[in-house]
Amino acid sequence: MNSNITHKKRSNDNAEISCSEDPENMSFFSQGLRRRKLNLCSCSSLILIIILITIIYFSEILLFGWRRGDVFCGPNLASETKLTELKNKVNFLTSILKRFGISEKEYIDEHLPKIFVVTPTHARPVQKAELTRLKNVFLHIPALHWIIVEDANGKSELVTNFLKTSSIPHTHLFKQTPVQWKINQKDPRWIKPRGVLQRNEGISWLRENISPTEKGVVYFADDDNTYSIELFKEMRYTQKISVWPVGFVGGIMVEKPLLDEKGRVRGFNANWRPDRKFPLDMASFAVNLGLLVRSTDAFFSHRSQRGFLETDFLEKLATRDDLEPKADSCTKVFVWHTQTSDPDLNREQKLKVQGKRSNLGMEV
Ligand code: UGA
Ligand code: MN
Repeated sequence: MNSNITHKKRSNDNAEISCSEDPENMSFFSQGLRRRKLNLCSCSSLILIIILITIIYFSEILLFGWRRGDVFCGPNLASETKLTELKNKVNFLTSILKRFGISEKEYIDEHLPKIFVVTPTHARPVQKAELTRLKNVFLHIPALHWIIVEDANGKSELVTNFLKTSSIPHTHLFKQTPVQWKINQKDPRWIKPRGVLQRNEGISWLRENISPTEKGVVYFADDDNTYSIELFKEMRYTQKISVWPVGFVGGIMVEKPLLDEKGRVRGFNANWRPDRKFPLDMASFAVNLGLLVRSTDAFFSHRSQRGFLETDFLEKLATRDDLEPKADSCTKVFVWHTQTSDPDLNREQKLKVQGKRSNLGMEV
């Protein structure tokens, strides 16, 4: 017992001696030391890792957070600033839509029925000016697809360039009117119908490229008329055929459908050949897209009697009862049958004789 106590005491008094003396104790102490060393080691690696993580974290903030403005403003302030910025942008864009007469509903609605505008056009000095007037209106209309059909044997450079910069969704087609159906320069313009094959080319394109179930409307817009933005709002939801007044047509100030007390079309005020079933000008109606695509025999015809182009076409699509009066029950004029006079180019003719041109290398 005693010796044991002594031994313990001695060991405690002089640990190093006891340690060297006792192999068991020796391994115990060296293990402890190693463990302490290991602890120290893992401790310093942990600190190193923490330092590394901290460096990475701050460099991330410096690199990306700085750009976001988080470092100085804090995440909440930054997102608030962003939100205000976005709100200002939305207000700005809304004011533009308002100025252009586009309702927010029209702009936001992804399923807006599409308006397909078919325009026959032919080469002449005022062609680009006419198309530009149309473009400036069409740019205001959401979901509008412009089908331009040139009366030519190919796509002209002028119309190609014009469409390239128009930023309007479009299809560029061409179809030449044979000479026998063309008007001679001396003839009055009404002697033969115009734009017939071009409109038909547009119709064929629609039948080949558009599903009969797609929602939309088709409007035949000649290149020389005057169109207001309101007209396109009126026609978008056409079920079969919608109709409205047109200014300066048929020799009177306004040609218009006449309505009964229930708001249905009961007649027309046309002066010329009022016996036509649909005494209407091309500019005064729009056709439902599906109806036109499905009615495969509905085309314009060169064989139509003079002034019967529109009525012959409409008779293949609808009856009078199907007509949907628009433009505030046909009390407003949103389209005018204007005709641009030929510009005075007599000096240009003289220049040409001298082999010169005022518009050399220039599209006018
Ligand atoms: C009137 C109607 O408003 C037209 O819709 C109708 O086609 C025409 O009568 C007719 O009876 O055929 P109007 O002003 O006399 O129109 O006709 P234009 O404006 O000279 O021609 C109608 C469209 O056909 C225009 O877009 C025009 O560029 C185009 N066109 C004209 C051709 O594609 N080729 C031509 O040789 C002439
Ligand atoms: Mn015209």
